[in-house]
Amino acid sequence: MSEYLLEVKNLTRIFTSKRKKTVALKDVSLAMERDNPKTLAVVGESGSGKSTLANHILGFLKPTSGQVLFEGKDINRQNRQQHKQYRQKVQAIFQNPFDTFNPFYKVDHVFHMLVSHFHVAPSRKKALPLIEQALEMVRLNPGDVLGKYSHQLSGGQQQRIMIARCLLLKPKLLIADEPVSMIDASLRVTVLDVMEKIKTQNRISQLYITHDLSTALQISDDIIVMYKGHIVEKGPAIEVIQSPAHPYTQLLIQCIPLPSPEERWESPIDIQDTRRIESEEACCFCDRCPKAADICFRRQPGYTQVSDEHSVACYLYGDKTE
Ligand SMILES: Nc1ncnc2c1ncn2[C@@H]1O[C@H](COP(=O)(O)OP(=O)(O)O)[C@@H](O)[C@H]1O
Ligand SMILES: [Mg+2]
Repeated sequence: MSEYLLEVKNLTRIFTSKRKKTVALKDVSLAMERDNPKTLAVVGESGSGKSTLANHILGFLKPTSGQVLFEGKDINRQNRQQHKQYRQKVQAIFQNPFDTFNPFYKVDHVFHMLVSHFHVAPSRKKALPLIEQALEMVRLNPGDVLGKYSHQLSGGQQQRIMIARCLLLKPKLLIADEPVSMIDASLRVTVLDVMEKIKTQNRISQLYITHDLSTALQISDDIIVMYKGHIVEKGPAIEVIQSPAHPYTQLLIQCIPLPSPEERWESPIDIQDTRRIESEEACCFCDRCPKAADICFRRQPGYTQVSDEHSVACYLYGDKTE
């Protein structure tokens, strides 16, 4: 069996409409090990392709080209049975937990639907101790949340219920797309702590998608930095933050608003290079890059290793000849 839990290989996704063509993902490749649960953060500004990547890994969208492999198998070539197993092994939580709750049902409903769909337990009665155990794992007191309606709970409690719901299925991978960005700052820490804990205790690998580099550093082992659908840099979280190689990552780090974690980290860069982008193949960052050379306007750089596990797509580190 494959040594990788998840492999994304040269994933490209182009959205086309009558008026425009958007390259949402371009040649994106990443891998997560199978027997060594880690948190991989995918960071980038809004519009960089993070959710499109998540939606391809979840099988909600089909690639224009490239592949998503789970345990060595292409997820777009699964039969029904394999697909159902995949949907159990890979779970997701999203930005707004409130969307998942039906306001007319008690929160218990989200558990019961899952229990019957995936046959987690033969009856509601037998499912109850499992639900209670999952709630305790996410540091919720079952008595405080079961029997309540979603509007009676905080965003942090709701998101932890969504994590507890995932735990019932004993997944191998959790995809968390901006899981704390709509949650009050004071409640974020508990959700992130819970994510950290289930990685270690429940051995669940995680893809943590965020626009917030500081929480990425807090809970992730590795970081991928995306810009306009391209991975521009990847490596161990500490290394990427302490020695960012790509000019884009460097600018992002300068822009982390230190004193107030409340502030949003979006479009911090206002440089606009007046040199004409000569080719569709130009580096994705050339028109905003303070260090751009002529070649950057002609051709996208390949990846260069800056250390064993740290690589960057930038001519500053690689071959400058054409
Ligand atoms: N269904 C879609 N149809 C057309 N364009 C889309 C669609 N989904 C995303 N896009 C475009 O793809 C790019 C990446 O979007 P997205 O993956 O949502 O970014 P992020 O999650 O990083 O904010 C954006 O330019 C967005 O407008
Ligand atoms: Mg998104």
